Amino acid sequence: MPLPKAELHLHIEGTLEPELAFALAARNSVLLPYRDTEELRRAYLFDDLRSFLDLYYALMAVLVTEDDFAELADAYLTRAAAQGVRHAEIFFDPQAHTERGVPIGTVIEGLARALDASEERHGISTRLIMCFLRDLSAESAMETLEAAKPHLHRITAVGLDSAEVGNPPSKFREVYAAAGALGLRKVAHAGEEGPASYVREALDILGVERIDHGLRCMEDGELVARLVRERVPLTLCPLSNLRLRVIATLEEHPLARMMDAGLLCTVNSDDPAYFGGYVGDTFHAVREALGLGEERLRELARNSFTASFLDDDEERRAKLIAEVDAYDFGVRRPE
Ligand code: ADE
Ligand code: ZN
Repeated sequence: MPLPKAELHLHIEGTLEPELAFALAARNSVLLPYRDTEELRRAYLFDDLRSFLDLYYALMAVLVTEDDFAELADAYLTRAAAQGVRHAEIFFDPQAHTERGVPIGTVIEGLARALDASEERHGISTRLIMCFLRDLSAESAMETLEAAKPHLHRITAVGLDSAEVGNPPSKFREVYAAAGALGLRKVAHAGEEGPASYVREALDILGVERIDHGLRCMEDGELVARLVRERVPLTLCPLSNLRLRVIATLEEHPLARMMDAGLLCTVNSDDPAYFGGYVGDTFHAVREALGLGEERLRELARNSFTASFLDDDEERRAKLIAEVDAYDFGVRRPE
């Protein structure tokens, strides 16, 4: 039995496996510029975030109908359940779909159909986080929030993703204030490729509760002290950092140093179809590369529930944390 855990940093479009991409392409008569799944997989060699994003957005062309989004999400939840995920907070990128003519309602209602069935079908509770693409304009983000209004009961939080450098959090001050006024919670990618100052901006200007990635906070001792003091969770994605060349080898990932510094770290998969593993695989990889002991792994699993938006179901949070505390590592592959 795998260690129970929550996944807090997962782009649903980043779970599109080549096999499903080709099946959806055939169903929707979309021509992909790859002969087969093997050729597509061979394209998964990235120099940086931008080179990944180009392929990630291009492949989304196969996602057209509500059924497609429901199928994508259900396929992820099936894989996640097998790796011990008991709670998942799932990002989606509405503008990547509306920009190519797919209505936001198709995206949200399709995903929601799979998420609504998730607890019963997979034992995974879920939340949905709507991300704004930071390389598009602030006006486009505001229009997206407006368009999502009929579906807000489906959405727990807003997030900020896509190409970071040159697109600081401050660009999205107004839309985050508007989202907060609507009762949405707030997270943002910051300090992935961008500087530590973007992490500060996300906290001070956007008022986020969690930082996605946040790796580069380690360049700023005062910021680290603040993140520790305020118990701001960081949703780290070590395999993503490796594949996007934020780090050269997994052995040099700062996760263990960050935990030693007292930061509230979680381990997540980001875009598992592209980066070589789902969240259980990621636990396994960091365990091997960083030599994390059982208590460190247990701490990471506990943190994932502590940092989750389960505030409206404290009973479930307590139950899942108790499962982590009682977990018996006396098995060979606990991830
Ligand atoms: N969108 C999908 N994955 C992302 C990442 N790692 N960083 C920024 N935007 C993303
Ligand atoms: Zn991400």
